[in-house]
Amino acid sequence: MRKPIIAGNWKMNKTVAEALELVKDLRFKLENVSDVEIVVCPPFLAVQSVYQFLKGSNIKVGAQNCYFEKKGAFTGEVSPAMLKEAGCSFVILGHSERRQYFKESDEFINKKIKAVLPEGLLAIVCVGETLEEREKNIWKEVIKTQVTGGLKGITKEEVSKLVIAYEPVWAIGTGKVASKEQAQEVHKFIRDLFVKLYDKNTAEALRIQYGGSVKPDNISLLMSEPDIDGALVGGAALEAESFMKLVKFEKKAKQ
Ligand code: PGA
Repeated sequence: MRKPIIAGNWKMNKTVAEALELVKDLRFKLENVSDVEIVVCPPFLAVQSVYQFLKGSNIKVGAQNCYFEKKGAFTGEVSPAMLKEAGCSFVILGHSERRQYFKESDEFINKKIKAVLPEGLLAIVCVGETLEEREKNIWKEVIKTQVTGGLKGITKEEVSKLVIAYEPVWAIGTGKVASKEQAQEVHKFIRDLFVKLYDKNTAEALRIQYGGSVKPDNISLLMSEPDIDGALVGGAALEAESFMKLVKFEKKAKQ
């Protein structure tokens, strides 16, 4: 059984004071939850204070990015060890906004994955097609390239330290959520790809999150699909009330 994982990707939102206000609320509202793994990913500057506040709770902290070098003259960058020391358990890598606005390639993302795992961080690796790629019906090729390129040289033992987030670019921040059938089709495709690249057990244990306009009113249906194991949430993770509803989604039997 894969434990559902709901992660909030706050993007470039929340000052440290605002971040603390949000997690104060969340800690209280979510203290009884044990059947879902909960992660919040604040901006770098708020990571440490958020971690200090959440220490000992059931909410883990993640970062939204990092660099692959250990240290040195890389102005503006943050290393995996710095994130670990600040309290991160997770780091999101290859988010479509990083791919789109900061021109991150699969090769670059691959280097980051290889840099964070030895530090004991777990990576949430994002993949997903654009609207144009979906309309051209080439999403399978796109996702296959992102998975194989991003995970080049990653061993099956290391796959247990990964979560894959399928985030169709056309659904992010647009209010246009993928239908549960569309999402399930891609999630199944990704899991089958892991069977081919690794083996059945590795693929079965892998958690695959859906991301893109996940809201309290659509999460239960998405989570009822057999290969959807969680959600990576942007907009709806910025308010305690809606993030609480997401984490406490109504569990329907998996189909
Ligand atoms: P959204 O963002 O929930 O605001 O669509 C999801 C994401 O980018 O991770």
